[in-house]
Amino acid sequence: MPSNKSKQKDKQLQKLKQESISFFREIYKDEEKILVFGEGNPDAPLVLVGEAPGQQEVVQQRPFVGQAGQNLNEFLNILGIKREDIYITNAVKFRPTKVDPASGRLSNRPPNKEEIELCRGLLYKELLIIRPVLVVSLGNIPLRVLTDDNKVSIGKVHGTPIDIAVGEGGIRMTLFPLYHPASIIYRPQLKEVYLEDVRKLRRYLEEKGML
Ligand code: URA
Repeated sequence: MPSNKSKQKDKQLQKLKQESISFFREIYKDEEKILVFGEGNPDAPLVLVGEAPGQQEVVQQRPFVGQAGQNLNEFLNILGIKREDIYITNAVKFRPTKVDPASGRLSNRPPNKEEIELCRGLLYKELLIIRPVLVVSLGNIPLRVLTDDNKVSIGKVHGTPIDIAVGEGGIRMTLFPLYHPASIIYRPQLKEVYLEDVRKLRRYLEEKGML
C-alpha cells in the first residue's frame, strides 16, 4: 500500500507532468514532440537519470524501455534492486532526432544545449518532489546538468559520489555518476570499468543501509 507521503508526491509529479506538457506545447507549437516523463516510485530513495528518450521510449511514452531497458535491467540485477522501487527519468524529456540523408529516416542524436536548458528546471523539480537519498546519473549529460558544470567529464568522476545542490533552494543530494550503458556498446573496453563502478555503487548503497 502506498503511504500518504508517496500518494502526495505522486500527485505533485502528475501535476508537474501536466504543466510540462502545456509548457512544451507552447514552445514547440506544431512540432510533433512527445514528452517522456519520469516514472516509478515517487518516494524512492534512489533516482536514476539518463540522457534522453529514444524511439521505443517515445512509442511507449516511458523512459528506458527497449534496448536501453534491457541494459537497465542488467544494471538493476547486479544491484539487486527492482525497477518499481526506484524512480527513472531523463535529463532531456524529448527524443533528439536527425534525418539520415541516405535513408530519409529519423535517427537519434545527442541533445543540444537548447534542449538541455529547456529541460533542466523540470529535472530539478522532479528531484525536489522526490527528495531521494541518492541520484545516479548515466553519462555526461545528466552529470553536467546535475553538477551545473559543463566542463566536468564522466571519464574523470565516474564511480565517485559527489555532493550536489539542486534547484534554486540548493537542496543537497549525493550524486553517483556512472558511464551511460550505451557507451559500452561503442567502447567495449569500458565494460569492466562500468561493472566495477556498479559494484562500487552496490557497496555504497549497502553502507548507507539502502540495500
Ligand atoms: N532511453 C532513455 O530513456 N534514456 C537514455 O538515456 C537512453 C535510452
